[in-house]
Amino acid sequence: MATVKFKDVSPYKKSQPLPPTQDYLYQKYLEDLALKKEIQHPKIKLALFGVGRAGAIHLSNIVNNPRVKLVYIVDDYESNWKNLKEYWHFEDVTFLNSKQADKVYNDSNVDAVIVATPTYTHEVIVRKALEGKKAVFCEKPIAEDNVSSLKCYDTARKVSKPLFCAFNRRFDPSYAAVKERVRSGEIGHVHVIKTVSRDSPLPSIDYLKISGGIFHDCMVHDFDTITWILGEYPVKLWFFGKRGVNVNFVSCNNFHANICPQVAAQAYAHIPEIKAIDDYDTVVVTLYFPSGTLGMVDVSRNSAYGYDQRLEVFGPKGMIVANNEQTNGVNSHNGVQGIISAPIWYSFASRFMNGYRRELDHFINVVLGKTEPSVLPKEILAVSKIATACEESVRTGKMVEINWAPNELL
Ligand SMILES: NC(=O)c1ccc[n+]([C@@H]2O[C@H](COP(=O)([O-])OP(=O)(O)OC[C@H]3O[C@@H](n4cnc5c(N)ncnc54)[C@H](O)[C@@H]3O)[C@@H](O)[C@H]2O)c1
Repeated sequence: MATVKFKDVSPYKKSQPLPPTQDYLYQKYLEDLALKKEIQHPKIKLALFGVGRAGAIHLSNIVNNPRVKLVYIVDDYESNWKNLKEYWHFEDVTFLNSKQADKVYNDSNVDAVIVATPTYTHEVIVRKALEGKKAVFCEKPIAEDNVSSLKCYDTARKVSKPLFCAFNRRFDPSYAAVKERVRSGEIGHVHVIKTVSRDSPLPSIDYLKISGGIFHDCMVHDFDTITWILGEYPVKLWFFGKRGVNVNFVSCNNFHANICPQVAAQAYAHIPEIKAIDDYDTVVVTLYFPSGTLGMVDVSRNSAYGYDQRLEVFGPKGMIVANNEQTNGVNSHNGVQGIISAPIWYSFASRFMNGYRRELDHFINVVLGKTEPSVLPKEILAVSKIATACEESVRTGKMVEINWAPNELL
């Protein structure tokens, strides 16, 4: 009886609260319910290059997106074509191998190309697709090095077609919310920013051999996340040590208020097969930014407990954290063993599923001219430049200086 005095009028007699804008899945549901976009726009015709680990994610998202129609699949794994056709009911999709790819570039019916092939193949596919007047969505990184990436962006500019680099973490709702809240000043000037990116499952050695190395393949995500949130780039990188036990220090003599952090990193190959291919499985980098912000990146190729992805930003007014997300929200209490909860997502395919869907939607909006690519060429080139500097330092054991022309900066 004590609470009966709080009894409220019927909710039918009151106005209902609006759904929170953060519930992006409900917002999408409302769009689907209202049949909005599909009526307004013709379907975008797509070709997908590469149906491996990343391509399979994009393929599923393409099939489930009413705004696109898949016209071609290009992949050299021809023995898989029959299974793909049957599984996805691809009676009207044309399958080609890479030697037949000109058919895609020359087909004026194709609006856009999604590139999810191994990194060393990107440059040729990206440039030919652009020259064929297609908009291009390319898996990260755009190319193996900055010279090649620059050529891709030059081609995009010359033919006036968008080239979008798929840094999927930017489209993850949690990471995007962290960025928005940091930029709104919620915690004030950032004192510390940390990322943890521990891969699961352990990638195959065949993949790692052609991955471009841990800096270009893995750590570009972290460099992108940090520079995207902070809006600053490192200027100089000092990298000491030899492979196996590397200690790398980066500092900056030409201190400039807006552009010059310092970086220190350590890298190690615990796994013999990874050491044998001249790569690393574990890297830690620290960054010092001119405004006083300190950054830390902690990367591993092999996390035994799932795909460990965390982001933490700390400032004078508080802390904003994107924690690991779990497969469900159930907790159990069995005897006196404490609280047992669900595992974290096992792999990028599950952890970032929503991010991959949202980046495809963003690309579709770019192709439709509704928005500009949110991942800018200079950001991609900057991240690639940082990764290349790390790589060169590991190889030579020498200090590497990163210099930025004014037009390279944010
Ligand atoms: N954003 C992410 O989370 C993420 C995750 C994994 C991979 N990637 C990126 O995706 C790309 C592919 O990586 P993956 O792990 O899917 O590789 P993968 O080896 O699993 O798949 C590559 C596929 O491309 C096909 N292929 C190879 N050469 C080709 C060519 N010239 N034309 C057409 N098809 C070709 C192969 O037959 C294979 O099916 C890489 O650039 C990688 O960096 C991004």
